[in-house]
Amino acid sequence: MCPIGIFDSGYGGLTVFRSIADQLPQYDYLYLGDNARAPYGNRSFETVYEYTLECVQWFFDQGCKLVILACNTASAKALRTIQQKDLPAMGPGKRVLGVIRPSAEEIGRFTQTRSVGVLGTKGTVSSGSYVTEISNFYPDIRVYQQACPLWVPFIENGDYKNDGVDYYIRKDLEQLFAQATDIDTVLLACTHYPLLEDRIRKYLPEGIALIAQGPIVAGSLADYLRRHPELTNILSQGGSRSFFTTDSVTDFEEHATQFFGEAVSAQHIHLELK
Ligand code: DGL
Repeated sequence: MCPIGIFDSGYGGLTVFRSIADQLPQYDYLYLGDNARAPYGNRSFETVYEYTLECVQWFFDQGCKLVILACNTASAKALRTIQQKDLPAMGPGKRVLGVIRPSAEEIGRFTQTRSVGVLGTKGTVSSGSYVTEISNFYPDIRVYQQACPLWVPFIENGDYKNDGVDYYIRKDLEQLFAQATDIDTVLLACTHYPLLEDRIRKYLPEGIALIAQGPIVAGSLADYLRRHPELTNILSQGGSRSFFTTDSVTDFEEHATQFFGEAVSAQHIHLELK
């Protein structure tokens, strides 16, 4: 069995997995949420890299050849080092992909004003990854970033339906639009944020395109698999989905439904904490 691995610090990657499972239902999948150590968003580069690498290694130990980091923070802070430094030493034919590049590649299709807002965790924003990646594809696009450090903790704690959350959504959006009034496209550059989509829309000026990453990442993965038959041919196609968490199975199963849109049953894994 050679499943596709999908990783997030917690539940957010399930919003991406939803889109991937809908577009590519034939493959076998393993999902791992590192809930015991989430959120990653305010952690240092070294810590995010170390945690992400441990999880990637776990996927490879399970027989995966392809792992998707369905987490912007891990993609921003760990992906490049893993691809350049660790993968070559982990044996041939193993690949790790992230969510930033495919999102950056697509964003130019949405904006008319060429002025784009990016909402993410503190880690994603401070890495500058979106600014770099978007300017690689579209040198004419201006990118304005806003860190929303409290959104993920609210979501991970199941608190995101509280009225108090609105205060932070409004405040963070005001700070984004204070940077530029001609922003016409806002990217949810954190896989947790689609759960707040309705509330975010409430505080966005009329006519702004609000972009979630799930369908973009799923489309990009489908394209990648078409272009890499040597990988696609070894991926197993039993249509199975298995869910793993580093924390409580009960909590995972309770929360996951809201992100994945259907009930899931999960298993616990223990990663050696360094
Ligand atoms: N879902 C993650 C992201 O896309 C995570 C956040 C976190 O753990 O802070 O950035």
